[in-house]
Amino acid sequence: MVIPHRELGRTGVKVAAIGLGCMGMSEYYGPTDDKESIAVLERSIELGALRAMIRISGTPPYVLPQSLSSRTIHCSIIICDVYGIGKNEELLAKVLKTRRSEVFLATKFGGVRAPDGKFLGINGKPEYIRQALEASLNRLQVDYVDLYYQHRVDPSVPIEDTVRAMAELVKEGKVRYLGLSECSAATLRRAHAVHPIAALQIEYSPWTLDIEENGILETARELGVTIVAYSPLGRGFLTGQYKSIDDFDATDFRRNHPRFSPENFSKNLDLVRQFEELAKAKGVASSQLILAWVLAQGQDFIPIPGTRRLKYLEENVGATNVTLSEHELKEIRKAIDSIKIYGTRYPEAGMKGLNI
Ligand SMILES: NC(=O)c1ccc[n+]([C@@H]2O[C@H](COP(=O)([O-])OP(=O)(O)OC[C@H]3O[C@@H](n4cnc5c(N)ncnc54)[C@H](OP(=O)(O)O)[C@@H]3O)[C@@H](O)[C@H]2O)c1
Repeated sequence: MVIPHRELGRTGVKVAAIGLGCMGMSEYYGPTDDKESIAVLERSIELGALRAMIRISGTPPYVLPQSLSSRTIHCSIIICDVYGIGKNEELLAKVLKTRRSEVFLATKFGGVRAPDGKFLGINGKPEYIRQALEASLNRLQVDYVDLYYQHRVDPSVPIEDTVRAMAELVKEGKVRYLGLSECSAATLRRAHAVHPIAALQIEYSPWTLDIEENGILETARELGVTIVAYSPLGRGFLTGQYKSIDDFDATDFRRNHPRFSPENFSKNLDLVRQFEELAKAKGVASSQLILAWVLAQGQDFIPIPGTRRLKYLEENVGATNVTLSEHELKEIRKAIDSIKIYGTRYPEAGMKGLNI
């Protein structure tokens, strides 16, 4: 399996075209199994490392010979300090202990939670950012992260102040590149004027096309910012594996998600059925068709499907070998455009946290 690479922003660094989202390994999508998650992480690194062109090792700043025209790291792993209230980073530490140099490691800050998990708000204050990074490095047991994202924009702090503080961490070698998540086009532009933003992590999938309509994609392209498409499989729904809300565990956060409410769930299955037909005609899994479609939106798209299962990991990575013709892309777009999606992409409180 050959995993293609894509440049991250305008950094000159190439990462695997599909990353691995680790959120579900610690929270939100029902019961977790660390042993299985670690197997997925190890295999993910292996799949990437098999094709590694250049391994980058050592501590930053990276000094590479001038003769090397591209810098490639394979496996992109995306986590966050709030997932599992730090548990997600602690889980990663177990794998990074021996494999740090093979991983392009991204984590986020900004969501503040109490030890019992209660969400306390968003914090983008300079002093908090430093404190959050130190805590992440400590949990991860690493000296630096490759990509550090602000998870949500703090409306009480000018984005310039936040990004200036993040840029300090780059200067100190604790962070290599900066990213934002779920910010508006205007915020992205202001942030980028302070320090280059390499990536924007934002929801994008066949049932969440907001960035095409609100100017975000256009602005990201103008500035050379990679779109890291999170929940590219519609939180698993678009793969067709869930047929009713009862398929979710009692603790699964999707039970409170408007798109999965009893009245919306069955209506939203229309799009799933269309994908099932298109995938069958192509001879691939629905998940692969969807990921191949996201990848086909441009070299500046990197989807980060989340999984805790080896089978899904292999399937998702396999999507990088699925080529869609112009005709197939048009057919998929036609199917997407023909279906109405019911429910917002977050519950009310979550929608308020988006900088749109
Ligand atoms: N910036 C943000 O605000 C934000 C928000 C949400 C997520 N994220 C990031 O984005 C990552 C991905 O999001 P997500 O987990 O919601 O993504 P997703 O890939 O859309 O959905 C993950 C769900 O799909 C299932 N799945 C994965 N591959 C499959 C396959 N081939 N066939 C059938 N089912 C499959 C997973 O099942 P299993 O879990 O059982 O494997 C899981 O239930 C997260 O891990 C997180 O890092 C960021």
